[in-house]
Amino acid sequence: MRQPLKYAIEWIEQRRPSRVVALTGAGISAESGIPIFRGPGGLWENHRPEELATPGAFARDPLLVWRWYEWRRDLVRRASPNAAHEALARLEGALAGRGDLTLVTQNVDGLHRRAGSRSILELHGNLFRVRCPREGTVEERLEPLGELPPICSCGSMLRPDVVWFGEMLPSGILEAAMAAVRSADLLLVIGTSGVVHPAAGLVSLLEVGEAIEINPDETPISELARFSIRGSATEVVPSIVEAIEGGQR
Ligand code: OAD
Repeated sequence: MRQPLKYAIEWIEQRRPSRVVALTGAGISAESGIPIFRGPGGLWENHRPEELATPGAFARDPLLVWRWYEWRRDLVRRASPNAAHEALARLEGALAGRGDLTLVTQNVDGLHRRAGSRSILELHGNLFRVRCPREGTVEERLEPLGELPPICSCGSMLRPDVVWFGEMLPSGILEAAMAAVRSADLLLVIGTSGVVHPAAGLVSLLEVGEAIEINPDETPISELARFSIRGSATEVVPSIVEAIEGGQR
């Protein structure tokens, strides 16, 4: 249910949560200028996921897929983390020793790490890594790739080290996210439409904790959350983080 921010802050001040999980989606990077996927202006408005983000699409037209990823890599390279990414990075430091913050992200943009977060579970991989399907090796590639598609020294075509529709999540990462949610006393759900599984199902794993959603729009997660705050990530996340930090003093 939609709730004013002040009720969520009062709840945090009373409960003083210290085992916190933040589940983030494309919306947390929207104010850094990175387009979200769904809705007006979203990436899926002009492209169908199955044309660009499936193993079949890559097999059919690797150049098209790589051009799209190289365009996204360029966009993200020129963007900066925003106040919401930065507040979550600060919170990780504030909770260290007393509790913990686990960041579970569906984003492949790496902006949480650039903001200073370290305990990050990237469910869908990372735009700045490439993988050799033949050798199974993964390599960080931060700079523009030059001629597309990029080729491994073994001669096979490299692919982005991201999870496409129809693929399994990287082994161990989902399990770690599930364990963190089960033992969390607070789950922040920030900027995700809550329609892509398994990430969307994490909320229902909460055992002792409660969820606070931060999203300008209603989502399927809204009714599962104790508080659903309608606002943008940069407006709301810093205030929530400040309240959690206050409880640790
Ligand atoms: P979506 O594009 O589905 O949803 C973004 C959410 O962010 C929406 O609910 C918006 O209302 C919200 N939003 C927009 N601006 C915001 C802001 N300034 N602050 C906070 N929230 C804002 O993105 P995801 O839920 O991340 O997967 O999508 C999940 C997965 O679907 C992605 O990882 C990607 C995509 O297809 C793959 O490519 C496998």
